[in-house]
Amino acid sequence: MATTESVSAVLSELDPDRQRPTNVLAAQQLTLRFGATTILSDVNVAFPRGTITALIGPTGSGKSTFLRTLNRMNDRVYGFTHEGEVLLEGQSIWAGGQDLLTIRRRVGMLFQRPNPFPMSIKDNVVAGVRAHRIARGKQLDVVAETRLREVGLWDAVKDRLHDSPYRLSGGQQQLLCLARALAVGPEVLLLDEPTSALDPLSTEAVESLMRAMTPALTIIVVTHNLGQARRVSDHTMFFYDGRLVEHGVTEQVFSAPRQPDTDRYVNGLMG
Ligand SMILES: Nc1ncnc2c1ncn2[C@@H]1O[C@H](COP(=O)(O)OP(=O)(O)OP(=O)(O)O)[C@@H](O)[C@H]1O
Ligand SMILES: [Mg+2]
Repeated sequence: MATTESVSAVLSELDPDRQRPTNVLAAQQLTLRFGATTILSDVNVAFPRGTITALIGPTGSGKSTFLRTLNRMNDRVYGFTHEGEVLLEGQSIWAGGQDLLTIRRRVGMLFQRPNPFPMSIKDNVVAGVRAHRIARGKQLDVVAETRLREVGLWDAVKDRLHDSPYRLSGGQQQLLCLARALAVGPEVLLLDEPTSALDPLSTEAVESLMRAMTPALTIIVVTHNLGQARRVSDHTMFFYDGRLVEHGVTEQVFSAPRQPDTDRYVNGLMG
């Protein structure tokens, strides 16, 4: 008779994820500079698959620089250099055989300001799908509808799919960009202050989407909204003074920070 253990052993054999590393992304001894200025030194961190990590810290502490490094958005920025590694499923994102477009498909990004492309609403959603030849023809309509429904935008835009996205509200434009990012099936989504320009209702919509998207997706989100970090994230990283000062389970970082600087920051005592 099969014991519970042997059943779970068989199930884990059948699990397509069993060969995949637990950490989808990791930074190792990562140092980031612009010219002679070091922005962050010696960051070591791993992002477990299917979790949400919040990046917090004062303005200028390097949150965006770190985030943008993770899908090589800084590679061509004037003066940017790095030491150390970023591993995507164990492989360096800077390794010779890596294709930049593929990395950007696997590690998607949403910026603080919504940036719809100058094309119709529908074409925005399927832009990446087209470029990567994931679907074509009538399939694109299905992809567009599915993704717009997923982000809760379908009813608002179904009668104007061929209109410009620029007449949508800021919150709707951000949801459209989220639909576009999700459409190519990323493994990781990088969000840089995704709700800072949104009203409380749209913010709540994006936060509940973030929770709904995990564990299928791994999310790393920069936020100045400490309530948001606490509400949505599993882990929190605190950047300050050129370093990753603290990294831990969100509840611990907020309620029992290990470092005095973290304590001051999460309790609003740091300017
Ligand atoms: N392209 C660049 N060239 C030179 N310095 C830069 C460049 N981009 C950013 N920096 C500098 O790097 C430091 C970190 O900037 P970054 O944008 O990562 O901070 P941040 O934590 O995201 O801040 P904020 O909360 O205001 O968005 C800042 O001192 C900034 O001036
Ligand atoms: Mg920033």
